[in-house]
Amino acid sequence: MSDSYVWFEGIRFPGSGFDPEVFREVRDKFVVKNEDTITVTYPKSGTNWLVEIVCLIHSNGDPKWVQSVPTWNRSPWVETIPGYEFLKDQEGPRIYTSHLPIHLFPQSFFSSKAKVIYGIRNPRDVLVSGYFFWRETNIFKIPETLKEFMELFLQGHVAYGSWFEHIRGWLSMRERENVLVVSYEELKKDTRVTVEKICEFLGKKLKPEEIDLVLKYSSFQFMKENKMSNFTMLPDSYVNENFSFIRKGVTGDWKNHFTVAQAEAFDKIYQEKMAGYPPKLFPWE
Ligand code: A3P
Repeated sequence: MSDSYVWFEGIRFPGSGFDPEVFREVRDKFVVKNEDTITVTYPKSGTNWLVEIVCLIHSNGDPKWVQSVPTWNRSPWVETIPGYEFLKDQEGPRIYTSHLPIHLFPQSFFSSKAKVIYGIRNPRDVLVSGYFFWRETNIFKIPETLKEFMELFLQGHVAYGSWFEHIRGWLSMRERENVLVVSYEELKKDTRVTVEKICEFLGKKLKPEEIDLVLKYSSFQFMKENKMSNFTMLPDSYVNENFSFIRKGVTGDWKNHFTVAQAEAFDKIYQEKMAGYPPKLFPWE
């Protein structure tokens, strides 16, 4: 079990698989290529769902790749030690993932034409999803109760720091041609239209029957059963018995977990921190 943390620039990260020196290299030296496709999210925003969609679009709906190679090898996390080691020498266009806040992201991205899909989700659902994820894994130690976890979340003292800063930082890029913002909520509500939007952004023209395959193999049920995508391949020492990565897959689960007082306290801070943002950016509002 790893209950220690790695710190970089005042942000906490899980204790295993991360190294401050790698964070520095990723930010300052990693060369982003124009042909790269990068899925970026704050953790628990539906990252792996987006990654599955990106991989299936890449293979025109053919599920062979997603059914034979684990997520973390198909689209490695650039900020992890193994991800960075693999990606820095990989030739040709690359597909990868990151949870990094914008100021720690590879700086070479900002002068490149690489495509970033930035996934967002109602932070209340992010919080609940994170609570169950971190509680059932030994990757990043969190307090026992949701109440205590919420306090840390609102202060940004959780893995990858503050949700609010992550969102504010990345949304400042939303007008760029090479950045597409996709919400978990729109993906749930209108999966096909959103997948088509991602195809267009990536410049991939898929036939309707290929889109059908993307939808089929990235569905909640298929991902839950695909051991390459459901994280059951994580070593036993990392997960508890009750662990289920593809957990509920719904919007609004926070309503089952927040008390009225917690919901109010959350709203107050949310309103303060997100003041000035047009609500239409956030489908949960
Ligand atoms: P819940 O814990 O609310 O169920 P991430 O990949 O960023 O860690 O996000 C994990 C969340 O995405 C989990 O949310 C998980 O169930 C959900 N998810 C993963 N695959 C999904 C799918 N195909 N459809 C809907 N939700 C999915």
